[in-house]
Amino acid sequence: MKLNIAIDGPSASGKSTIAKALAKRLNYTHLDTGAMYRACAYKALKNGINTDIEDDLVKMVNSSHFAFDDLGQILLDGVNISSDIRSKEIDLLTSKIARYAQVRASLVKIQQFMAKNKGYILDGRDIGTVVLPDAEVKIFQTASIESRAKRRLLDYQNKGIKIDYQTIYNEIELRDYQDQNREHSPLRKTDNAFVLDTSNLSINESVDIVYDLVIKKINEGSD
Ligand code: DC
Repeated sequence: MKLNIAIDGPSASGKSTIAKALAKRLNYTHLDTGAMYRACAYKALKNGINTDIEDDLVKMVNSSHFAFDDLGQILLDGVNISSDIRSKEIDLLTSKIARYAQVRASLVKIQQFMAKNKGYILDGRDIGTVVLPDAEVKIFQTASIESRAKRRLLDYQNKGIKIDYQTIYNEIELRDYQDQNREHSPLRKTDNAFVLDTSNLSINESVDIVYDLVIKKINEGSD
């Protein structure tokens, strides 16, 4: 028996890392919905689409093809763009695009279609609330801003990018505010979500906790 799993939480809380590891352990499919929003920002930028005009963005989304390869990397119109969507410019533009209700509605429809069968792990901001309100397991993954900023700093250092801790800290704080206070589908924990605070947990410890929850749920279902 397979379930659907929703993982929501603020930026840089490690949702994708946990979702990816969990998908491997459970033999489930991981859909990184943040990567889909990022792909839209990337395509708009590349094709000179005016991101102030929501209708144009909606047309663009509805004529795009989104898929994920076996490694969980995003394919936009058949092209792997996973290394092109992680930049500060894309971070900011994505945050702007993600505020549009009709853009969200189009992406939500695509995500629901992709995950219409069981055995999917979706991570994002609105998965438990809007995309998969019926998901059998809902996780609200969070961590202190300090621990998220430290992890992000390490990511940047490993990529050879020079940036200081305070800049990262401020950016995370700003994105938290934007995600939680936007008009459409703000980041919210549902009442039935399990809160996973990873501030003091390793990746393996976090994955173990969610894995145990999923197995418990599967066993309950087969009783
Ligand atoms: O998780 P991430 O940092 O890759 O997300 C990128 C942006 O997309 C971020 O501004 C939040 C937004 N997003 C969203 O609004 N809804 C989702 N389901 C996933 C991401």
